[in-house]
Amino acid sequence: LKRTKTILNYLLTIILTFRNVEIKDFENVEKKILKIVLEGKNNVHIVSDFDMTITKYWHNGRKSPSSHDIITKSSTVSDEYHKKCEALKAKYYPIEISPDLTDDEKYPYIVDWYKNANQAILDEKIHKDDITTMCRENSVVFRPGIKDVFQTCRDKEIPFLVFSAGVQNVIQESLVQSDLLYENMKVVSNTMSFNEETGICDKFVGQLYHVFNKNNFGLEGTEYEKKYKNRKNVIVCGDSLGDIKMADGAEHETCLSIGFLNLNKFKMLNKYMNTFDIVITDDGSFDLVNEILRLLN
Ligand code: C5P
Ligand code: MG
Repeated sequence: LKRTKTILNYLLTIILTFRNVEIKDFENVEKKILKIVLEGKNNVHIVSDFDMTITKYWHNGRKSPSSHDIITKSSTVSDEYHKKCEALKAKYYPIEISPDLTDDEKYPYIVDWYKNANQAILDEKIHKDDITTMCRENSVVFRPGIKDVFQTCRDKEIPFLVFSAGVQNVIQESLVQSDLLYENMKVVSNTMSFNEETGICDKFVGQLYHVFNKNNFGLEGTEYEKKYKNRKNVIVCGDSLGDIKMADGAEHETCLSIGFLNLNKFKMLNKYMNTFDIVITDDGSFDLVNEILRLLN
């Protein structure tokens, strides 16, 4: 009881201290965090989105690159490919982030975007080795505090699943180049497959993920499943409303969801607060998650 009280007091202090944190149902959040903390590091795992969650939204006054952008911006791709991707983005990205359309209204456009973008990647005949070069040339911008999150999860052996509608190969290579991919981690995303003889990307393998169908990470029967299988609590982090479904691929007793609201705060805050337990606005940091992880024994 004494420990519970200490934890509660501590939580209250930290949550109220952080800037950029919005919570609709404080009591519920307190209850969830307390359960996660008391049941400890062996009963929790993390599922997090990549683009604009693990990475920051703004960098030097501009939007930071997504995993798709790392390919688009590379010097190894043709001008034609570059222009095509920029045109697709100019057409579809405003739809993705529009505060005035419902997810159902956006859905067919997003599917079209991914169909076209993936076909463009195949048409470009990208070589396996180019992925390494692309990630060296343009790096993604990691959100403040995420490196500590990764390292704490590694040290406490908390499984960390990166579940993204970006490009698996780029995300994985970006993490490797920054020394941030550890044994306890797994990246599930759209995966380019390379011809064994030519080294050229000739197909995507596995499920196609876009921002609205991230509800099944499909890890049944894998080595990684053994890591999270008996863990009843999960922390979900994402920046798109669709990210709330990311942990639905497994059953949990408690799901603590954290939403990063990077854009359109005034129009979207209510929606985000009705969707996620905790909302971090204004491109804020992972500090709050770090504080929760620190409490886990
Ligand atoms: O990791 P996450 O699931 O957030 O990755 C999806 C993001 O990738 C979307 O928010 C979208 O804006 C971006 N994207 C992109 N280029 C594409 C497709 C998606 O930048 N061709
Ligand atoms: Mg995202």
